[in-house]
Amino acid sequence: MKEVSFIPKPYTKTLEKGSVSWQSPSNIALVKYWGKYGAQLPKNASISFTLSNCHTKTTLSYERITATDDFQFEVYLDEKREKSFEPKIKKFFERIEEYVPFLKDYKFKIETTNSFPHSSGIASSASGMSALALCLLSIEKQLVSEKISETFFNQKASFLARLGSGSASRSIEGPLIVWGKHDDIEGSSTLFGTKYAYEVHNIFKTYQDTILLVDTGEKQVSSTVGHNLMHEHPFAEQRFKQANDNLSKLIPVLKEGSVSEFINIVESEALSLHAMMMTSMPYFILMKPNTLEIITRIWRYRKETGSHVCFTLDAGANVHVLYPEVEKESVLAFIESDLKPFCKNGLYITDSTGTGAHKLTK
Ligand code: PMV
Repeated sequence: MKEVSFIPKPYTKTLEKGSVSWQSPSNIALVKYWGKYGAQLPKNASISFTLSNCHTKTTLSYERITATDDFQFEVYLDEKREKSFEPKIKKFFERIEEYVPFLKDYKFKIETTNSFPHSSGIASSASGMSALALCLLSIEKQLVSEKISETFFNQKASFLARLGSGSASRSIEGPLIVWGKHDDIEGSSTLFGTKYAYEVHNIFKTYQDTILLVDTGEKQVSSTVGHNLMHEHPFAEQRFKQANDNLSKLIPVLKEGSVSEFINIVESEALSLHAMMMTSMPYFILMKPNTLEIITRIWRYRKETGSHVCFTLDAGANVHVLYPEVEKESVLAFIESDLKPFCKNGLYITDSTGTGAHKLTK
């Protein structure tokens, strides 16, 4: 599939006024995306668990206007105008205009709320951009006369979301999504995320993710800057190869339910991501002392109890604690007694794999 497949035929219908709402989840990568080229295309393939509790709800209200030269929109977070979000949305609109050419014909109001605290350090770009992409596509669906298949709708939603934030391409469906062309995964694409279609052992179908909020401040380094630092990075090519190799290794692991091997791959991916940050120029460290304390405690607990708990990290200090559902009670007790003291204000969020975004009806 090529980019041009997502340019719609001239619209045949008109819409005056209305609103659409979508709920879209966050996701956590098992094999990480770090490094991009062109129009938000990934340097390596990645795979993630779609989450369930961490999500964004977005309502997009639209009203037809005489087309202007610029986009007309306002953004509201938790019912308060959030002007600081508007440059990012403007950039997103510029990138996607070619594929949803009705943007300048409407005045929009974007109202959004996150299920997680805004200042939790949990990136809202994946859930936020995917929710907005889905809303726009729901409008487009009403402007065309031909029927749009569910497959095409999801592909285009992921394609648009990707242009807002790369990892957002993996938030449309679930529970496991691949993004990036990979030789071992048929149908995989750099343009949009696809549902992981190979056999998955039951243990991975209900995996748990408890997110420990270690540092709830603003991101020190934006992911745009981080991705760009991979251009001149001395270890870049080796890293892209490592990620693709790890994805190949994950295929039999997911099929057979080999949790120990899963842990090796997932933890190594998290640390490799952070190693890239520590070895770029300029270099930076996003982990905090409490991140390391938590990791050390997870390793100790695993050694002492034989548990299958493990960790992964995003581009930040928070720790995602991953474990099979059968261990839920014991791992949550361990988190409560041993890890909670290292969370900012004792905060953590319990989540698990989810099935993706859904349209909200009022
Ligand atoms: O979607 P972006 O551009 O914010 O990149 C995020 C990349 C990581 O979260 C660090 C890894 C990943 O694959 O989600």
